[in-house]
Amino acid sequence: MLEKKEAPLGVFDSGVGGLTVVREILKQIPSESILYYADTAHVPYGSRDPQELKGFARKITSYLVDQGCKMIIIACNTSTSLAYEDLQTFFPLPIIGVIEPGVEKALKTTKKSRIGVIGTVATINSGVYQQKLQAKNPDAQVYAAACPPFVPLVENGLIAGADTENTVANCLSPLLEKNIDTLILGCTHYPFLQPVITKVIGSGIKVIDPACETVRKVGEKLKELKLFAQGANPSYHYVSSKSPQDFRARGSVFLGEDLGTVKKVIL
Ligand code: DGL
Repeated sequence: MLEKKEAPLGVFDSGVGGLTVVREILKQIPSESILYYADTAHVPYGSRDPQELKGFARKITSYLVDQGCKMIIIACNTSTSLAYEDLQTFFPLPIIGVIEPGVEKALKTTKKSRIGVIGTVATINSGVYQQKLQAKNPDAQVYAAACPPFVPLVENGLIAGADTENTVANCLSPLLEKNIDTLILGCTHYPFLQPVITKVIGSGIKVIDPACETVRKVGEKLKELKLFAQGANPSYHYVSSKSPQDFRARGSVFLGEDLGTVKKVIL
C-alpha cells in the first residue's frame, strides 16, 4: 500500500483534453504521480445527455478511488458543469473541477467586464459558467458559444491548417461582435487549438486556459491537507476505455512525451 502522500492524483476526461491539465501538473507540481482515465469510448461528451454524463463521472471517480488516488481532478468542463456537486456528495475525498478556477482567473483578467466563454453544448447549456461569473461580478457581461466541431478536430489531431482555421473562425464570429476583452477556453481540449484561436481573434483579447489556475488550486489543497508527495520518482499511468494505442499516439504528441503503455479499462 502506498503512503497516502505518495498516492496518485486521479485525473479524468473524455479523451486527450485533460492532458492540458496534466502538462500543468508536470510543470507546477512535478513530484505528484498521476493516474489518468480517458473515456475514449464515449468521446465527445459534449453532445450527450446530462444524466448519462453524470453516470460516467461517478463510475470513473469510483474506479480512481478504488485505485487508491488521494484526490480527483475533473479535467473536463462538461463533467465539472454537470457532475461536480454530485461527486462531492458521493465521494469522501477532495475533488477539484476546472470551472471555478477559470471563472476566477477571467474576472481578474477582464478590464471591461465583457467576457466570452466557449465550450461544449452540454457545458454551455448547463449555464454554469454564466451563473458563476455573474454571481461573482453582477456587472459582468457574459457571452457564451458552443463549439461542437472543436473536440473532434483535436481528437483527430487537426489542430492547424486552413480548414481548421475556417471552422474556428465560423464558431467564434458571433462572440467577436460582442466586444469582449477576455475569452475563457471552457473545454480542456481547446487549449490545443490556442494558436489557431489567437490567430482568428487577434492579440487584443486575453485567452484564459483554466488548467493553470486549476493546478495552482490543486497545489494549495495538497498543502492544506499535508498531502504533497515527497518522493523523487513520480509515476504516470494512463488508461482509456477504447483504442489505447490511438490514445497513446495522439496523447504523446500533445503532451510532448511518451505516455508509455496505455491499458484498456472498460467500466
Ligand atoms: N474536454 C472535455 C471538456 O472540457 C470534454 C469534451 C467532449 O468530450 O466533448 O468539456
